[in-house]
Amino acid sequence: MTPELPVGIHDLTFSTTSLVLTHEELARHTGAPLAKYHHGIGQRSMSIPAVDEDIVTMAANAAAPVIDRHGKDRIRTLLFATETGIDQSKAAGIYVHRLLGLNPHTRVVELKQACYAATAALQLACALIRSDPTQQVLVLASDIARYDIGSPGEATQGAGAIAMLIAANPAILSINTPSGLYTRDVMDFWRPNYRTTPLVNGRRSVDAYLEALTQTWHDYKERGGLPLEELRAICYHQPFSRMAHKAHQHLMHLAGTHQTAEIIEHAVAGTTTYNETIGNSYTASLYLALTSLLDSETNLEEETIGLFSYGSGSVAEFLTATIQTGYRNALHTERHRTAITQRTPITYDTYRELRSQKLPTDGEALHLPHQTPGRHRLAGTHTHQRLYEAVDKRCPQ
Ligand code: CAA
Repeated sequence: MTPELPVGIHDLTFSTTSLVLTHEELARHTGAPLAKYHHGIGQRSMSIPAVDEDIVTMAANAAAPVIDRHGKDRIRTLLFATETGIDQSKAAGIYVHRLLGLNPHTRVVELKQACYAATAALQLACALIRSDPTQQVLVLASDIARYDIGSPGEATQGAGAIAMLIAANPAILSINTPSGLYTRDVMDFWRPNYRTTPLVNGRRSVDAYLEALTQTWHDYKERGGLPLEELRAICYHQPFSRMAHKAHQHLMHLAGTHQTAEIIEHAVAGTTTYNETIGNSYTASLYLALTSLLDSETNLEEETIGLFSYGSGSVAEFLTATIQTGYRNALHTERHRTAITQRTPITYDTYRELRSQKLPTDGEALHLPHQTPGRHRLAGTHTHQRLYEAVDKRCPQ
């Protein structure tokens, strides 16, 4: 029998916004104890977009180093996962396709199912590669997490984008079968088309997340999945980093082991570094946790890890991946650390001012000031169209 062709993540990078609001600054205005933010939800700061940054510019910035390194000739599909859609009809990925100068003979699609959509994109990409291993798929996940001012969710905002190049014989990790799946119609978090912020039942959403973890784990095990002891680490979707602790404790309990808080802390520590400071990035969040783990000191060569993806509403998946020998050579660790440290801290007043700014809804022309240091920007709007530009010559339009 022919051994199954390894298919998975060949390259992986993230980008975030150029501005950051710390939880110290937020706490000064909400009156919440800082310990609630730092320990109760496990967040230190959150990325805030400048006026000329959005899901398209973040996604293009995340993908640009992947294109610089691997070229674009083999990319036949671009899948863009988001729940911060900018258009009801046109896929956001088409703007990225132009900004990166991708081949016109490419299929570009946007996928939506809350924070889960990037995992759907990853699995669809793997299936495409298995049917034609000569091609590559660019998977992008980009979101801006915004909640109502003064709501419990406000401290769990953030923004970020992930770019993953999916290919046969991947340099970083291969995606395994089986995976565990679960769908349930639950109103824990949703955003009707007429709203810019979601409606959230916070406690219910945490319970729905944990129930989905139970159900996907059982489904994974019933389909012949590995025992928990064989998973070297597990990355969880992180709406806030403390959720990874809750999830890991829950999974340990399901597997019949009781772990102390210190052991749980140690088990998830490598996966929370980036999410703690970037905040929730919805579709990108799980893959930010994965990037954080890969960029950590832990040597994961030949190890199998678990990934738990949850999207409110809700759809969830528990899957596993095997890390490849030499994977460290394919990482962008320094770039990732710089993306976080080079953000400019903003005051609460600036945050509120940015939140109050809106793009025209009447077709009026708007020129946006150049604020972002990124390689792509939203230059303005004209006749109901968003105008994007590449500001770096390495990425021709
Ligand atoms: N020191 C230390 N800890 C403190 C503290 C203090 N002074 N004060 C409070 N805490 C702890 C609380 O004990 C609590 O811990 P536990 O959860 O372990 O009990 C934690 O801080 C949070 O406190 P509250 O429950 O009082 O917080 P809250 O009412 O402000 O709401 C939240 C928390 C529900 C997560 C809210 O931030 C929220 O609605 N967030 C958005 C929804 C969300 O993220 N849901 C997660 C699952 S859904 C999902 O995963 C999809 C997605 O991306 C949105």
